[in-house]
Amino acid sequence: MVFIKLVARHPFAPPKPIIPHLCIMPFKKIDQEDISFFISVSGNGYVHTDEEQLSRCASDHTEDLHYLPEVVVQPDTTDQVAAIMRYCNTHYISVTPRGAGTGLSGGALPVTGGVVLDMKRFNRILQVDSRNFQVTTEPGVITQELQEHVKAQGLFYPPDPASKGSCFIGGNVSENSGGPRAVKYGVVKDYVLNLEVVLPNGEIIWTGANVLKNATGYNLTQLVVGSEGTLCVITKIVLRLIPAVKHDLLMLVPFRSAVQACEAVNAVFLAGFTPSALEFMERDAIEWSMRYVQATGINLPPDIAAHLLIEVDGNNMDQLYADAEAITNIVQQYDTDEVLFADSHEQKQMLWTLRRKVGEAVKSNSVYKEEDTVVPRAELPELLTIIKDLGREFGFHSVCYGHAGDGNLHVNIVKAGMSDEDWNNKLSVGIRRLFKEVVRLGGTISGEHGIGLVQRPYMDVAFNETQMALMRSIKNVFDAKGILNPGKIF
Ligand code: LAC
Ligand code: ZN
Repeated sequence: MVFIKLVARHPFAPPKPIIPHLCIMPFKKIDQEDISFFISVSGNGYVHTDEEQLSRCASDHTEDLHYLPEVVVQPDTTDQVAAIMRYCNTHYISVTPRGAGTGLSGGALPVTGGVVLDMKRFNRILQVDSRNFQVTTEPGVITQELQEHVKAQGLFYPPDPASKGSCFIGGNVSENSGGPRAVKYGVVKDYVLNLEVVLPNGEIIWTGANVLKNATGYNLTQLVVGSEGTLCVITKIVLRLIPAVKHDLLMLVPFRSAVQACEAVNAVFLAGFTPSALEFMERDAIEWSMRYVQATGINLPPDIAAHLLIEVDGNNMDQLYADAEAITNIVQQYDTDEVLFADSHEQKQMLWTLRRKVGEAVKSNSVYKEEDTVVPRAELPELLTIIKDLGREFGFHSVCYGHAGDGNLHVNIVKAGMSDEDWNNKLSVGIRRLFKEVVRLGGTISGEHGIGLVQRPYMDVAFNETQMALMRSIKNVFDAKGILNPGKIF
């Protein structure tokens, strides 16, 4: 094997964006001896220093950010991960764990170069325990494949992030992902029972037990869930499952006022219904997505400002029709156009594709920044009003969509006509204002995308110094040298 010369910045790397307040001691640069060690652990063919692999692992789905690692290592077993971590900890080499790279806060970006620990070979579903409604899986399994695998046995793993067809379950656990079904079924944390993890010093532990209740000491499992690869490397995951649900109904409700669409969300819950999805899409969101996926068949009259996509599910079809009718009556108390019912599997697929592709559609349209605001559900109309007011004040256009039933609104701020000066300097002031308003409403700055790299400068909006010091201390207990996913969260 021929190795290209390793340099801190590759000639093909675009200039590095400045990371505000990132003060990390320089890590040891990787040399030939390190490479030989990684090969001795992971095997020839699973240690990469070529342009293609480094470039692949230099970015995830977050904006257009790009940070080249020095080497990509693809271990296959927990023991291999342990050996790599032990070595890197001893030699002060930074390690950035990577799933499928679909994250939206830059959690998988190797901002300090070093090793990308690519978990793609951990792609085995190890055991489905249908007696106990559990599955044990490795982290590199695609979420949708896991769902289909357990579904074949009459079991249901509900969390369904928009990227479910390509994201890894390990990344979902690391980010505590959500998705449309969270409103009824909860997010990833509600399904994680136990984790096998490798600590930065190479020790291997299980965090809990394979049980539905556990009041035994601190909850290490839930500490690791959502820790964004900063505490340890997840190598096995035990998930709780539920019985498969037989039927669902899906409807698309057009509103002439986006704020009214947000008001209607809470009205549905106040009337006693919990849909299995309740998604909001501003006009631009659905229109851009329709263009992006070249969808036809949905009429979008000029006076429609937003849509709610509402799904109900259950085992009794008559009950579902009754619920859908009742929900229709509730939303029609607002200024709506005709409600569209998906009456075939294909129509449902088409509506869900439109919804899931909004993020990609926005990205394909313009340079953008994505905020993942979340407020108590009843405050959603106020949040939307504030976002639009701030847009006018700071000169930005936003495309809003997301999991309205959770009070979770994705705010995609598009650069469009904004000057570079305003985009680079003024916008962060606007985003800070937005986050302060979110916190004032009782919410916080990320509902399901995590803090990672891009929301890091705003952590002080959500937490005071005492809270931040506690989190830093926890990080320090796990990773005293700070080699694991540096530059994230703090
Ligand atoms: C979605 C992703 C962006 O909901 O979270 O589409
Ligand atoms: Zn989302």
